[in-house]
Amino acid sequence: MAGDVTLSRGQWSTQFGFILAAAGSAVGLGNIWKFPYITGVYGGGAFVLVYLGCVLAVGLPLMIAELIIGRRAQQNPVGAFQKLHKPGSQWQIAGWLGVASGFIILSFYSVVAGWAIAYLFKSIVGFSGTSAEIQGQFGNLIGNAWASIGWHTLFMAMTIGIVLGGVRKGIERWAKILMPALIILLLGLACYGLFTTDGGAQALTFLFEPDFSKLSAEGFLSALGHAFFTLSLGMGAMITYGSYMDRKAHIIRDAVVISLLDTVIALLAGVAIFSLVFAYGLEPSQGPGLIFQTLPVLFADIGPWVSVPFFVLLSFAALSSSISLLEVVVSYFIDKRGWGRAKATIIMGFLIYLLGLLCATASITVPFRGKSQGFLDIFDFITTNYMLPIGGLLTCLFLAWIVNEKVIKEEFGSSGNLYKLTMFTLRFITPIAVLMVLLHGLEWLPFMDYVN
Ligand code: TRP
Repeated sequence: MAGDVTLSRGQWSTQFGFILAAAGSAVGLGNIWKFPYITGVYGGGAFVLVYLGCVLAVGLPLMIAELIIGRRAQQNPVGAFQKLHKPGSQWQIAGWLGVASGFIILSFYSVVAGWAIAYLFKSIVGFSGTSAEIQGQFGNLIGNAWASIGWHTLFMAMTIGIVLGGVRKGIERWAKILMPALIILLLGLACYGLFTTDGGAQALTFLFEPDFSKLSAEGFLSALGHAFFTLSLGMGAMITYGSYMDRKAHIIRDAVVISLLDTVIALLAGVAIFSLVFAYGLEPSQGPGLIFQTLPVLFADIGPWVSVPFFVLLSFAALSSSISLLEVVVSYFIDKRGWGRAKATIIMGFLIYLLGLLCATASITVPFRGKSQGFLDIFDFITTNYMLPIGGLLTCLFLAWIVNEKVIKEEFGSSGNLYKLTMFTLRFITPIAVLMVLLHGLEWLPFMDYVN
């Protein structure tokens, strides 16, 4: 029966299982691919420090807000906003935006994740050739629509396969396999970089010694935007995962653990990658090609015993995130439309897969913001710069100003100073910070120079 299926909803089997699943959602391409490359581009330590501040001031409070909304409502994002306000409430638009964001993000996320799997196979075979040839392989992969589509198909099939299994037997079970494996691989790679190459010390200096002269306003806003993306915030993923939480779970503690795990894993990835980059005397500021173009050149020299674990790590991280993106969409169709899990997963997964075909075909371009661009870049731009910040802004305004305070206190588990601090942050600091990211995405911030 539509709308009244709360009793048959899934629930995490253990609190630890929830933490691994939520950390699995957070830890993804954002940590292993994006964080190191933007840190490189924006100059290292100072950027890292600002990013840590953003996780504390914006990310953590917003994660708490999403988990509270989800657990209290026991609903998908659309239902959750209605349930905590009133049926038919216009706040459901925030939930809709989340479901739509999940749909669009997964369509391109799966293509990039497909490249990660492609590189896993390439590293088993081994990278060889001149550095120009190795770097050129990336362009060949992106430019070859059939190859990109093939890997995208494989990755979407895995994502759908896991989500079909449901909350416990699919998402949680796989998170319990993927996350520990990921952490072990990453610790191994970080130790390798730190202790056996000549680049370790330089990598630590680069990451942890702030040089504020290198920090630009642009870097500041990117740090804020990234804090959002990396913690899977702004589209109801944490509302959905929170809705499967047990009443006894401790939301604040769990949010701290998840954010901490996500941050530590991003930093470890930075240590692993920059140690190699510096050991080979390369520049850290390579941009998006850092792990698909720069690293393979080094891997050709080091060998598959480092590159295979690296790309396994990347693929695992991507998979445990993509399942959360699909789950948001699926939970809506299960809760609100009364669909069975199998029907919702297969139909929605397939539609997302179709949209992904557009992203995988780089030769299809349309004019966007003054130049001709592929769908992958356009979708990435629209979701990261508009949809997630708007979703995050609405979520924190909703919790901080609309939801009954008694409800929040109950979910929070206390009304002491920590509660007051969190509420103050959610009422004033988080919305202003998110608004700035949004205005920056729209290129409307008065004090920035936007060159077009
Ligand atoms: N956090 C993931 C990463 O860092 C991506 C992701 C998964 C995500 N679910 C999300 C981002 C929900 C925003 C919203 O790669």
